[in-house]
Amino acid sequence: MQIAKSTRLEGIGEYYFSQKLREIEQLKKAGKNIINLGIGSPDLPPHPSVIKVLQDQAGLANTHAYQSYKGVPALRNAIAEWYKIQYQVGLNPDTQILPLLGSKEGIMHICMTYLNEGDQVLIPNPGYPTYTSAVKLAGGTPVYFELTEQNNWEPDFAALEVSDLSKVKLMWVNYPQMPTGKKPSIELFEKLIAFGKQHQILICHDNPYSFILNDAPMSLLSIPGAMETAIELNSLSKSQNMAGWRVGMLCGAEDRINEVLTFKSNMDSGMFLPVQHAAVAALGLGNDWYDSVNEIYAKRREKVFELLDTIQCKYSTNQVGMFVWAKIPEGVKDGYELSDQVLYNSNVFITPGGIFGSAGNQFIRVSLCGSVTKFEEAIQRINAQKKN
Ligand SMILES: Cc1ncc(COP(=O)(O)O)c(C=O)c1O
Repeated sequence: MQIAKSTRLEGIGEYYFSQKLREIEQLKKAGKNIINLGIGSPDLPPHPSVIKVLQDQAGLANTHAYQSYKGVPALRNAIAEWYKIQYQVGLNPDTQILPLLGSKEGIMHICMTYLNEGDQVLIPNPGYPTYTSAVKLAGGTPVYFELTEQNNWEPDFAALEVSDLSKVKLMWVNYPQMPTGKKPSIELFEKLIAFGKQHQILICHDNPYSFILNDAPMSLLSIPGAMETAIELNSLSKSQNMAGWRVGMLCGAEDRINEVLTFKSNMDSGMFLPVQHAAVAALGLGNDWYDSVNEIYAKRREKVFELLDTIQCKYSTNQVGMFVWAKIPEGVKDGYELSDQVLYNSNVFITPGGIFGSAGNQFIRVSLCGSVTKFEEAIQRINAQKKN
């Protein structure tokens, strides 16, 4: 049978990683042992106490029913407490927090909640590719703003101010920024809030990396007046090593939460109760948890720097988050060429920066989600190939 896809899917390609993973699978089937340094999926487990809560709760008879669309009060209270302790942000757990099945679904929910055909959305280039696909799927039009090394990976507000913003309804931002690793600062956050207020744009801040190799986690909602013009997504995927569990959250003003809930409650039927209780345990972990995870990432990052030196890439040692962003050497056409060279010559996969937007073409991104031994093996393979 031939059945036409909806026009909504026109221009939406298959997610780059799902395509590339298929290619890597083919190479593996052909006998190649590929080291994948591409994907940011934590390889470390959550804290044992979190797993224990899931196991205990799943064994109970009364935990298997559908759950509330807004999550149990214990989860919303734990999120409010986490925001208070970690970000010094006060949130009302009954009205200003919406638990999500991961923050990725939140990106789609927000776009579906606010965008009409023809509405424009400011999107960072380079940035997380899901912003573009969610905007397009919801009928909106992406308008890219470039993040450059010269501009310290921050939006060029002067350039934005002189552009036509009359149709812009939302702006996606994400600091610590993926893929560039740029840290947030109070000044930057203040500028974003002022910009949103001035132009009546909803600033959508996506904040999943604030605890990774970053000693000063920040929330955009900590800026005075932020609730009027901003909402924030957060996630347990990276900070608690719970990517597969699908726990995220949206925080913001009561009206925004209710608007997004109108859409979300038509899409899913709540989060498995044992996962919610385990998330409560995860959110209650002290700073020793974040320190222990970061100690491991810091050692890995040293190896990644060494790997990048081996392929003559340049990088800032001041970046945070779960990746290292690096500039390719002169003479190489772009990050795709370098990525393919390293894949086909050394059986090591690193992500070409161009998949995050054209402004990433001269860069590559290496994930820290691999053991030190894996990075050492990758370095050795690249060195061995150089000698040939
Ligand atoms: C910038 C950014 N936002 C959101 C997500 C999605 O995270 P989650 O697992 O919470 O859906 C990712 C995952 O890679 C990401 O890099």
